[in-house]
Amino acid sequence: MIVMSDKRRILVTSALPYANGSIHLGHLVEYIQTDVWARFQKMRGHECVYICADDTHGTPIMLSAQKQGITPEELIEKVHVEHQADFAAFHVEFDTYHTTHCDENKELSELIYNRAKAAGAICEKDIEQLYDEEAGMFLPDRFVKGECPKCEAKEQYGDSCEVCSATYSPKDLVEPVSVVSGQKPVLRHSNHIFFKLSDYEGFLQEWFKQDPVHEGLKKKLNEWFESGLKDWDISRDAPYFGFKIPGTDDKYFYVWVDAPVGYMASTKKWCETNGGDFDSIWVNGDYEIHHFIGKDILYFHTLFWPVMLHVAEFQTPHHVHVHGFLTVNGEKMSKSRGTFILASSYLEQGLNPEYLRYYYASKLSASVEDIDLNFDDFIQRVNSDVVNKFVNIGSRLGAIVRKKLDLKLSTPDAEGETLLAEMRQSIPVVADLYDARETNKAMREIMRLADLANQYIDQKAPWTVVKTDEEHARAICTSGLNALAILSGLLSPVMPVLSSKVASFLGITDTIWDAIGTLISDREIAPFERMADRVDADQVASLTCTPKTA
Ligand code: MSP
Ligand code: ZN
Repeated sequence: MIVMSDKRRILVTSALPYANGSIHLGHLVEYIQTDVWARFQKMRGHECVYICADDTHGTPIMLSAQKQGITPEELIEKVHVEHQADFAAFHVEFDTYHTTHCDENKELSELIYNRAKAAGAICEKDIEQLYDEEAGMFLPDRFVKGECPKCEAKEQYGDSCEVCSATYSPKDLVEPVSVVSGQKPVLRHSNHIFFKLSDYEGFLQEWFKQDPVHEGLKKKLNEWFESGLKDWDISRDAPYFGFKIPGTDDKYFYVWVDAPVGYMASTKKWCETNGGDFDSIWVNGDYEIHHFIGKDILYFHTLFWPVMLHVAEFQTPHHVHVHGFLTVNGEKMSKSRGTFILASSYLEQGLNPEYLRYYYASKLSASVEDIDLNFDDFIQRVNSDVVNKFVNIGSRLGAIVRKKLDLKLSTPDAEGETLLAEMRQSIPVVADLYDARETNKAMREIMRLADLANQYIDQKAPWTVVKTDEEHARAICTSGLNALAILSGLLSPVMPVLSSKVASFLGITDTIWDAIGTLISDREIAPFERMADRVDADQVASLTCTPKTA
């Protein structure tokens, strides 16, 4: 863990989602994980800036716009609005949500390229690539299909076979067909621009010594070093939707060049609107830079990106946090099985977005392991933890306090004090777990505390005590509701809305981390209002039956 000073200054990013598809439950693993971490850091009083943007360039976006009969600009504008609405609905709260198709990004991408060129990191090579004569364009690997050269499986993509997992060049496919026109592509030469990644192995080795990635990934990184770093093709020929490479007529930056630069562009945008200082973040190293990504884009973030930054004399990331993939009911998300579930489909079922946040938090850790969304487990966990163990404390005690005790709290009884003392001891434990992204352990610890609180309440039975001794019942309810306040504070990075409802109920105004555990006593509280409903199995079952395309 980095402790630069008491108050940390942190830039946090999630990977920039492609602007040609809707946000699905797989994406949300990442945005929820990052948002929980960022909210936690903010609660701690650190300066934490959470930024993101749409990743708008590349062939798929160009072709997808063509198919819809609109311009790429229109497409990315439409998706930008949709993505932001989905994120907002799941309470993913960015400080800035920008786009890679902007002036800041163009300038920064050119700047980085020019500096890399001046540093001798750029070279040109003639390459041969499949070309679609009818569509008039070179074909990216995924836009060629054919027979696998190894196992002869039909209909395989140009880069790898889904049947035998072989990887190859699209040129090796048997009977290749262009996905764009359905025609047989031809081989054509073109001059491409390369980044000499292989020259920077020494730098990368040094960078890895600072532990920017989790232990569990070291093996993977070593494999890459052992097989040798290859120069990286950073240019694409027209037609392409992207930024033109300076000094060329018809070559564009490959989307993976300007995509990560989008982190910087988005920071710049944030600085403009919030009076921040771009250089102190990306040049002077005054901020920790934390990227959250999925395991599929590790290569880009731990090899190309740090080298690009290093060569152009910018600050390299301090941490790249890598999560695994979401599976649904134990299997890869799939459109045909109906498990490719969009964020909007989840919302349309009337399911509470905070329940997905809680479920993911209860599964996520710092490791790169895949996580599974199992519907039965989801229903069980949400109903048992969030509703029965957490919210029910409020509804049970709230009812007594309203009906019998004039909404007035007193002070905890002796055993209540003991309970609260034990709970307070756990606050720093939970903080460390959040900070280390071990949210599954944090949730488990919070639920252990919830169990203690419920045991206390069951034992004390204030609903019986109130019949004979109102003041004793008031003390018990005061203890129980203080326990609820602690649980609510600890859960607030994960369920901010539910926590704010608890705060209004109990009149809590100070919601910083250090205020968790502050005694609430001798005050009048608000009448308890319904906070959360149980998840209904039918709602969840209907999720897999909503055929919608991404
Ligand atoms: N545009 C690139 C990222 C550029 S970052 C400079 C991209 N976009 S994406 O839309 O495909 O994915 C965005 C993020 O969501 C990635 O980190 C990716 O790993 C994550 N996920 C996409 N599908 C996922 C699952 N099924 N499960 C977990 N995370 C997944 O990659
Ligand atoms: Zn094969």
